[in-house]
Amino acid sequence: MMNPAMSDDSSLINQLTDRYGRKVTYLRLSVTDRCDFRCHYCMAEEMTFLPRAEVLTLEECLRLARVCTELGVNKIRITGGEPLVRRNVLWLLERIAALPGLRELTLTTNGSQLERYAAALKQAGVARLNVSLDTLDAGRFHSLTRVGNLERVLAGLAAAYAAGFAAIKLNTVMMRGFNDDELGALAQFAIERGFDISFIEEMPLGEVGHARRDTYYSAADALAGLQPRFALLPSTESSGGPARYWRVPHSPTRIGFIAPHSHNFCADCNRVRVTCTGELYPCLGQNEKIDLRTPLRTGVDDTPLKQALMQAMNIKPQGHDFDVRTAKPQVMRFMSVTGG
Ligand code: GTP
Ligand code: 5AD
Ligand code: SF4
Repeated sequence: MMNPAMSDDSSLINQLTDRYGRKVTYLRLSVTDRCDFRCHYCMAEEMTFLPRAEVLTLEECLRLARVCTELGVNKIRITGGEPLVRRNVLWLLERIAALPGLRELTLTTNGSQLERYAAALKQAGVARLNVSLDTLDAGRFHSLTRVGNLERVLAGLAAAYAAGFAAIKLNTVMMRGFNDDELGALAQFAIERGFDISFIEEMPLGEVGHARRDTYYSAADALAGLQPRFALLPSTESSGGPARYWRVPHSPTRIGFIAPHSHNFCADCNRVRVTCTGELYPCLGQNEKIDLRTPLRTGVDDTPLKQALMQAMNIKPQGHDFDVRTAKPQVMRFMSVTGG
């Protein structure tokens, strides 16, 4: 079938659209594969990170972001690894936030450096922050992240609150036997601060040292536990991501569930991911990819880059097929490569 993103003469269009008619309006751009944590669901204990020469420069990241906005992307999320370990990331954020056509710049962080960065991120034009928080117990936090310090993340969240972001969302990856007894406490923590919170089913990306089926905890079980306690009301709201939201009565807090195993949201997929080396993955759960670094490095003309982006629309899969029953990861790259 002809890709609606291409006309007969392959001339350039201004809205990336895939073979299934899905408009790609959301870019998740990873600025580093490095991280100061080693979360059990994301990384192995020993990780080899990419040599710097392979990583896109901040200028290349900016050019890519600009070209994407010229092709209809209106939301960009900066991810990692941990994006705040990338030197001079604020330089990039300020410039991306100012791109004409961009509706929203957001960032996903582990919160370890947020206390230092919160005000500057807000100043740079980041509208919303998503912060990982899987437990409120300092000992557990240290063991889940292998190195992290809960106090620093809590101080970071307080600084983010003080900086006045339009919204702050907590991300909690649910793991049976690790934090499934704490979901209520985490929801309560979010409600007390007016934060949103998303509970995420663990996805089988990368060989991390445990079989995901052993730690799988479903969004349905989480909802069944939380609904009576918080009198949750179903909501049709969306933040443009895969979460299904529930409202807490008399509170701004929305409780989201990201359930790639039990609820397939791929039909509404509006996003692509670009790694810090310029590989575009049109689906988080599949292996197809397109190299954008070569067209980025071949010259100042944007046409080859635009053509590569349109080509990616032709290989965007219909969806992922994560299966919780399999012991082995279905995708070998780590989550820290594609930034979630
Ligand atoms: P907003 O809706 O903008 O708040 O963002 P988000 O929830 O998409 O982003 P975030 O970076 O906070 O990611 C939360 C979780 O959702 C991560 O575990 C992501 O891997 C997961 N996620 C985001 N997009 C997709 C997707 O297209 N497919 C799957 N399977 N998971 C996704
Ligand atoms: N499954 C689900 N979510 C994951 N994250 C990292 N690894 C996984 C995984 N295997 C989450 C992090 C972060 C977001 C970007 O992705 O907690 O909040
Ligand atoms: Fe780092 Fe985020 Fe992966 Fe944890 S989940 S190791 S904080 S990239």
